[in-house]
Amino acid sequence: MTDRLNVLIVASEVSPYAKTGGLADVTAALAIQLKKRGHDVRVILPYYASIRGKNLPLDSALESMCVRMGGNNEEWCKVLHMDTADDVPIYFVEHHAFFDRSGLYHDEAMHDYHDNPRRFSFLCRAALQYCMDAHFKPDIVHAHDWHTALLPAYLKVWFWDHEYLGHAASVLTVHNAAHQGVYPHSQYGYFGLGEQAFTPDRFESWGQVNILKGGIAYSDMVNTVSPGYAKEITTPHGGFGLAPYFTAKGDAFCGVLNGVDYANWCPELDATIPAKFSVKDMAGKAECKRALQKAFKLEVRDDVPIVGAIGRFVTQKGYHLVRGTIEELLWDVPMQFVILGSGDWENTSYFGMLPGRCPGRAGSYIGYSEEIAHLIEAGSDFFLMPSMFEPCGLNQLYSLRYGTLPIVHATGGLDDTVEQYDEQTGDGTGFKFHAPTPHALYNTVRWAVSTWHDRKPHMKMMMERAMQRDFSWEHAVHDYEALYQNAIQKKAEYDNYHS
Ligand code: ADP
Ligand code: GLC
Repeated sequence: MTDRLNVLIVASEVSPYAKTGGLADVTAALAIQLKKRGHDVRVILPYYASIRGKNLPLDSALESMCVRMGGNNEEWCKVLHMDTADDVPIYFVEHHAFFDRSGLYHDEAMHDYHDNPRRFSFLCRAALQYCMDAHFKPDIVHAHDWHTALLPAYLKVWFWDHEYLGHAASVLTVHNAAHQGVYPHSQYGYFGLGEQAFTPDRFESWGQVNILKGGIAYSDMVNTVSPGYAKEITTPHGGFGLAPYFTAKGDAFCGVLNGVDYANWCPELDATIPAKFSVKDMAGKAECKRALQKAFKLEVRDDVPIVGAIGRFVTQKGYHLVRGTIEELLWDVPMQFVILGSGDWENTSYFGMLPGRCPGRAGSYIGYSEEIAHLIEAGSDFFLMPSMFEPCGLNQLYSLRYGTLPIVHATGGLDDTVEQYDEQTGDGTGFKFHAPTPHALYNTVRWAVSTWHDRKPHMKMMMERAMQRDFSWEHAVHDYEALYQNAIQKKAEYDNYHS
C-alpha cells in the first residue's frame, strides 16, 4: 500500500446517518475503503435532528469547543463521537441553533434555510477546530461539494503554518457543479476569510459570494465523480459558469468514477429483497418481480417487462421527459412502470396520480424508502434514468448489478458506465439516448421493451454481462489514493513557491 495517511473527511451527508442522495453513499463508502487500506480516517458531519432521533451510542469527544467565525462571532458547540463496525470514527458537530431542524438543507416546503451559508461555513471551521483541539494532524482534508468547500480556503488563509493543520493538503470533490452556494456579499463577513479573498478569481462572482468557486481556487486538487462529467464541466454549458475555473486548475483537476458499495447493493447478499439471486441462479429475480408488482398494485404477470425509476424529484433528473411521454408509452407498448421519489410539486402530483390514470400498469410511491428502492432495483427489468446531466449516478450502477438494464440519457457518468446495446451482436449493458427529449425517451424505451419481447437471447447475454461489470470501491479507492498523493505534491509545490 501507499503511505499511511491521516484523512479528514467533512461532508453535509454521510450514510446511514444523513442522506438525501448519492453524496451520502459516497462519503460513507470512501471512508470505509480508506480505512481498509490502512489509513487513519475520521469523518465529520453535523448533528442534525434526524440523527439525534436515531439514539446512536455516542460519547463526547469534545465537551465544549469554541469556533471563531468572522465579525468576532464565537460559536460554542460540542463534538460527539461514535465508533462504527467498520472501525471508522464518526464525529458529529452538535450546535442545536444550526442543525437541530427537520431538514438537512430546507424546510418541509422545500425552502432553503436562510442561514445555510452560516451553518456550513461554521461546519468547516468547526471541523478544523476539532483537529486542533483533539491534536489530530491530517495529511489530507477532503471536502465535498459547496457545503464544505470553505475548508481549503481556511487551510490556506488561516492555518498555513499551524502545528496541526499547516501540513494538510486539501482535496475538493465536486459531486454536482450546479449547486455552488451563491449568496449576497453580506454573508461573506461571517466566514472570516477577509476581503482579500473576495476577488473574481476566488470567491467573488457578479458581486456575490460563490463558495464552490472559492473552494476550487484554494484546493490543492479538485475532482469530480466521473471522467465524462469532468469533461462536461469544462464546457460553458456544463460548468454552470465555473468552466474557466475548472480549466484553470490544469492537472490539479480530474474525474474519478464513484464506486459501489456491493455489501449493500448486491442481489446475492441483499437481505431486504424477497428472494436473493445471482448470475448463476436467476430464479429469485422473477420472485422479486412478482413482489414488486404486488407492492405497487400492478397486474401480476411475467409476460411484460417492468421499467423502474428512483430519484430525487428535481429538474436535474429529467422526469419532465417521462411526464411528457409515459402515458403514451403505457398505452402503446406492453410494459409496466413504477417510480419511487420525492421532491418538487410537478413530479409529486403527476406521478402520485399516474396509477389512478393507468391502473394495473403504473405504480408510484411518493416518499423516501431504502427498502422500496432495493425492491425496484431487484424486481424491474429496466431502470430508467433520463437525467439532463449526471455527475456520476449510482442507481444505474446498482441496476447493472441486479441485472436490471439501464435506459439512460447519454450524459456524464451515465454515458461512462452504460454500454449501448448492439442489435447485431447482442453486446452492451443498456440503452442510451442522446437528445434529452420525450420523443427520444419514447423511442428508446420502446426499443428496450421490443428487445425484451423479441430478442430474449440478447437480453440474457446483456443481463449476465451487466451483472458481472465491476464498479467496486476497490478500484475507486486506488484512484483516490493517487489523487491524495497528487494533492500532497501540489501542496509541497505551493509551499515552496510561497516560502
Ligand atoms: P443523486 O445523488 O443526484 O441523487 P445518485 O444516483 O448518485 O443521484 O444517488 C441517489 C441515491 O439516493 C441512491 O442511493 C438512491 O437509491 C437514493 N434515493 C434517491 N431518492 C430516493 C428515494 N425516494 N427513496 C430511496 N432512495 C432514494
Ligand atoms: C451527486 C450527483 C450524482 C452522484 C452523487 C455522488 O448528487 O448528482 O450524479 O452520483 O453526487 O457522487
